[in-house]
Amino acid sequence: MSLSEAVRSSSVGTTLRWGATHGLMRAAIRRQVRAGNPDARLLLDPDMQADPFPHYEAIRASYPFAPGAFARMTVHHDVATAVLRSDGFGVTNPTSVVPGPAKAALALAGPPRNPGPIEPPSMLAVDAPDHPRYRKLVSRAFTAKRVAALRERTSEVAQELLDDMDRAARDGDGHTVDLVARYASLLPVTVISEMLGVPASMRDQFLEWGDGAATSLDMGLTRRAHASMERHLAALNDWMREHLRRLRREPGDDLLSSIVTQVDDDGTGLTEQELVSTALLVLAAGFETTVNLIGNGTAQLFAHPEQRERLVAEPERWSNAVDEILRFDPPVERTARRATVDTEVAGVPVSAGGLVVTVLAGANRDPRVFDDPATFDVARTNAKDHLAFSSGPHFCLGAQLARMEGEVALRALFERHPRLAPAGPARRRPTRILRGYAEMPVRLEPAVSASRV
Ligand code: HEM
Repeated sequence: MSLSEAVRSSSVGTTLRWGATHGLMRAAIRRQVRAGNPDARLLLDPDMQADPFPHYEAIRASYPFAPGAFARMTVHHDVATAVLRSDGFGVTNPTSVVPGPAKAALALAGPPRNPGPIEPPSMLAVDAPDHPRYRKLVSRAFTAKRVAALRERTSEVAQELLDDMDRAARDGDGHTVDLVARYASLLPVTVISEMLGVPASMRDQFLEWGDGAATSLDMGLTRRAHASMERHLAALNDWMREHLRRLRREPGDDLLSSIVTQVDDDGTGLTEQELVSTALLVLAAGFETTVNLIGNGTAQLFAHPEQRERLVAEPERWSNAVDEILRFDPPVERTARRATVDTEVAGVPVSAGGLVVTVLAGANRDPRVFDDPATFDVARTNAKDHLAFSSGPHFCLGAQLARMEGEVALRALFERHPRLAPAGPARRRPTRILRGYAEMPVRLEPAVSASRV
């Protein structure tokens, strides 16, 4: 075994990788907080994270960019769209933002054995020509037509979970359950598992691994959080590697079986890690984000009873309501791009290598696009113009699926329990890029039945 292989597979490798990326980043964030940078404070302050919107409004006057913790940032819809669609920008990943000396440490640590969703070869972390190669492998399963065909099965899953939730409430105190654990997390993981042909019996295990790995999108993790994230990523990678090997021996007629035949480790076709990363991204993106749409949507409907009444009177508005939820409180808060050449955005030069953070949640409240943007309005005519699914070549592959699942899940929930109410404070997930709830106690007050009226 060479020195770099030995380092890579030992805990020294993990420590080097943490130090050169998150460790340095943590120190830099703290320096920026001391210097009074509000975006750096947001990265560390849970109170600000609970409601980041005043911060976005405070920097809105800076056009096109405001100074962020490490890079220029923008909360403007036109600027974010231009950057995300520009040929002059590419994706970025945690190792590409480290300063010079740390690069040597990273080179010694070698590439991570179990790359995460924002590290190559995940399609989120590569540009053309690799990006379209990976995306093509899985995109046909996510067309509007394929998703429409899944609506009925998704409704069945929703009804089954609601039945289980009612039973769990009866077995407990009669009416209180955690909506996230019993419903919002289970519906997306069940649907994506069935789509990909991975066993439904793995549902709880995927959720546990996915939860542990979700911090891989964030910056400046503590050493302990980073080690835990690497363990969960390893478990996911190992499971998927083994699953794809099984499918190569005994293929089924599912999406993953169809992609395993394309592996070619000689370097001419796709490597095993490219397939594992593609399959894992689709699986994890399928359940780590829509859970937040269902949770955030429920919270907004609790907070806006008049909008809830409107949906009872005009149920045809549910589909638009889901886009308004995505606009108002998006599950993915921000993303970033790096200039690949010297370029210009809204007349401002950005040199090659320059980073830009596009705050999707801020762009979604741009008053030049959305009238009265801080108002939650399920009848908003241009709600769909939000950037919650990003824009350009990396536009969310699962957008149609997420919209359909959100609509089916929220409508079924509020129709089954018209008097659904919060039963105590909800708890947010600790993740910063992914924004949603870890726990949401709700009271399942049954509809007043005819015999009781
Ligand atoms: C409400 C739920 C969802 C939201 C808010 C969401 C959001 C996003 C965003 C913002 C991106 C692009 C990030 C960037 O530009 O850097 C993205 C990409 C992606 N999403 Fe989603 N997503 C959701 C659900 C799903 C689902 C259900 C799937 C199903 C498989 C999925 C699969 C993907 C994939 C594979 C990519 C990478 C696309 C690429 O790089 O070409 N997402 N998503």
